[in-house]
Amino acid sequence: MRTQVVIIGGGPSGLLLSQLLDKNGIDSVVLERKTRDYVLGRIRAGVLEVGFVDLMRKAGVAANMDAHSFTHDGTIIAYNNEQFRIDFTKHTGTPVVVYGQTEVTRDLYEAREVMDGKIIFNSENVQIHDAETNAPYVTFDAGNGEERIDCDYIAGCDGFHGVSRPTIPDNIRRDYEKSYPFGWLGVLSETPPVNHELIYSSSDRGFALCSMRHENLSRYYIQVPLSDGVEKWSDDAFWDELRRRIPQEFADKLITGPSIEKSIAPLRSFVSEPMQWGHLFLCGDAAHIVPPTGAKGLNTAASDIHYLYNAFVDFYRNNNEDGLKTYSNRALARIWKAERFSWWMTNLLHRFPDQSGFDLKMQRADLEFLRDNEAAQRVLAENYVGLPY
Ligand code: APR
Ligand code: PHB
Repeated sequence: MRTQVVIIGGGPSGLLLSQLLDKNGIDSVVLERKTRDYVLGRIRAGVLEVGFVDLMRKAGVAANMDAHSFTHDGTIIAYNNEQFRIDFTKHTGTPVVVYGQTEVTRDLYEAREVMDGKIIFNSENVQIHDAETNAPYVTFDAGNGEERIDCDYIAGCDGFHGVSRPTIPDNIRRDYEKSYPFGWLGVLSETPPVNHELIYSSSDRGFALCSMRHENLSRYYIQVPLSDGVEKWSDDAFWDELRRRIPQEFADKLITGPSIEKSIAPLRSFVSEPMQWGHLFLCGDAAHIVPPTGAKGLNTAASDIHYLYNAFVDFYRNNNEDGLKTYSNRALARIWKAERFSWWMTNLLHRFPDQSGFDLKMQRADLEFLRDNEAAQRVLAENYVGLPY
């Protein structure tokens, strides 16, 4: 088999890249380790920057999103029983779009099907060969024994636990990592959201987030110790704790219901440099991870895809390699700013086990400065809606 670009990973990064390349006449094959249903079974965040929305529009995959998403002009920041609103649209002229990543991924799969895009599921033992040469190839086994795909380029969109990043030699690659001493316990419930916009709440008992997927599907999170297991948290215990961490006016009107999904995720900041090696390019979670506090996970993958698909188009259409040569530096410049913002939001809103009295005073001063200062609110708004590509 031969193609122009082999894409490893059929998550949102790999699917969006494949769709954009196809729309520009560039052939690709997606190798996905799992099944389509398994990939669609993952519950992920739901806040999209307009840059991501524009890419989905360019990819011809925006119809469902336009029909079923919400735009949010701002968010509430709460601390103990105080609260204030950050007005994204006032400060930046830009809202954010609320639309679940599961729906994004489903729309992308359906679009690939319509265009007869080649996705090979259950691809086991994917291996990258000769990435540092002009004739790279990939081997894999999808149940018919080992197969080989020769290609011009390889896009590693295979997430944090994928095979692409480790293919870059240790003496070339440098990883930067910060782990946080807590996790997020998330609950999905078929209940109306407690507020029409998100509520990020910092309380003496820990962080809480009130989000949603649509008018009858809510997504809530509370910060929990890393030692906690999901089995420790009954639905009632979760709702009681959430009420204790959000302002009383919202606690009083919270509508609870049975959880249809409940899970605990650790928080991590991670970046691997460089994001390319020879003819291998890393995108999305394969190269970087952010704590979910800034809602940047999918949105950082989007800017990688933006830079890479434009670089491929420029190469195949104009024989110009500049975009391919500068991909890693350009992608990382934006990634590190998103890492900073996600790290900053996480430190602003969470309780850390080792916080001193002084640390708590600094956190409170940060929140009150943000409450009172328009420039500070503009900085948060500009980062939240997404810095320019
Ligand atoms: N071979 C083939 N496929 C693989 C391999 C492998 N060795 N390893 C992983 N995969 C697949 C996974 O099964 C998954 O479907 O690659 C895909 C990677 O998808 P994601 O982990 O969702 O990463 P990405 O597409 O970059 O999306 C980033 O997902 O984790 C969230 O917060 C993150 O919103 C962000 C988004
Ligand atoms: C979500 O809706 O799952 C969500 C929203 C905002 C975040 C994180 C998660 O910062």
